[in-house]
Amino acid sequence: MVDKILFKRKKIGIIGVGNMGQTILHGLLASEAIPVENVFIANRTPGKIKKIQEKFKVRSFDNNEELIDFCDVVIIAVKPQDFSGCIENIAGAFTDSKIVISLAAGITAQSIQNLLPAVTQIIRVMPSTPAKIGKGVIGYTLNHGAKNLDTFIESILSPLGYVIQTEEGELFEALTVSCSSGVGFVFEFMQYWQEWLEEHGFEENIARKMTVQTFLGAAMLADKDSVNSIEELQNKVVSKKGVTSSGLSSIREMEIERSLRYSFEKAVLRDRELGKQVN
Ligand SMILES: NC(=O)c1ccc[n+]([C@@H]2O[C@H](COP(=O)([O-])OP(=O)(O)OC[C@H]3O[C@@H](n4cnc5c(N)ncnc54)[C@H](OP(=O)(O)O)[C@@H]3O)[C@@H](O)[C@H]2O)c1
Repeated sequence: MVDKILFKRKKIGIIGVGNMGQTILHGLLASEAIPVENVFIANRTPGKIKKIQEKFKVRSFDNNEELIDFCDVVIIAVKPQDFSGCIENIAGAFTDSKIVISLAAGITAQSIQNLLPAVTQIIRVMPSTPAKIGKGVIGYTLNHGAKNLDTFIESILSPLGYVIQTEEGELFEALTVSCSSGVGFVFEFMQYWQEWLEEHGFEENIARKMTVQTFLGAAMLADKDSVNSIEELQNKVVSKKGVTSSGLSSIREMEIERSLRYSFEKAVLRDRELGKQVN
C-alpha cells in the first residue's frame, strides 16, 4: 500500500507519443495507476503533442532533455531506429536516480546501459496494441539494478494487460514475436475470415462482427475453461468426418503451422537485427 502511494507520486515522462506511446498513455490514465498531473510527454513533431494534450490533458515538454530532468521515470517509446539518436546527445540528463523504461524491440538492456552509463535501473517492456483496452500480454524484463522494481512496474503495467516478467534473451524474444507482433498476425487471419464472409455475401460490417465474435468466443472460452487444454477444446468442435474435421485436415495439409513457425522465426531475426542498431 505504501509502495503504491509512493509510485503514484513518481513523475513519469514518455518520449515519443506515436502508436505505442499513446497506447501506454491511454492505458495509464484510464487505469488511474498514475494521476494525470504526474504524466508528461515529449515528441519530435510538435503538432502531435498539441493534439494529444487536448485529448489527454497531460503536460508536455518542448524537448526531451527537459522532460528527463523533470521526471523520475522516463519511458522511451521511439522506434528502435531512432533510439540512439534520440538520447545519445542528452545522455548526461540521465542521472543515476532515473528509471529508464524502453519499449524498443530488440534493443537490449546492456545496449541501453552503454548509451546511458550513469543509469543503473533499466526496464524493457514489450506491450501490444490491445494494451489500449487493458488486454493482451505485456512482458517486461529488469536489468540487475532494477531487480527490486517489480512491484513498481507491475503496478504500472497490470492495468494494461496480462503481465509477464521474463529474462532477456530467448524468452523475451519469443514473447515479443508471439504476443506483440502476434497481434498483427492474428489480425491477418481475421482479415482472411472477414474477406471470405464478404465474398459469400455478408455485408462488411456484419462480416467484421462475425469474425470478431468468432475469435473472441474461442479466446474467451479458452480463457474461462481452465480444465481442458486448447487441443481438447478444439476436439469438442470436431466430429469424425464432419465439417470442421474436413476443414482442419486442409489446414494441416497446407502446413499452416509450418508457415506460422517460419514467420515467428523470421520475426525473431528482425528483432535481433533491430537490436544491432544500438551497441
Ligand atoms: N506498435 C506496436 O505494436 C509496438 C509493440 C511493442 C513495442 N513497440 C515499440 O514501441 C516503440 C514505438 O513504436 P511505435 O509503433 O509507437 O512507433 P511510432 O508510431 O512511429 O511512434 C514513435 C514516436 O516517436 C517519436 N520520436 C521519434 N524520434 C524522436 C525523438 N528524437 N524525440 C522525441 N520523439 C521522437 C515520433 O515522432 P514523430 O511524430 O515526429 O514521428 C513518434 O511519435 C518502438 O520502439 C517499438 O519497437 C511497438
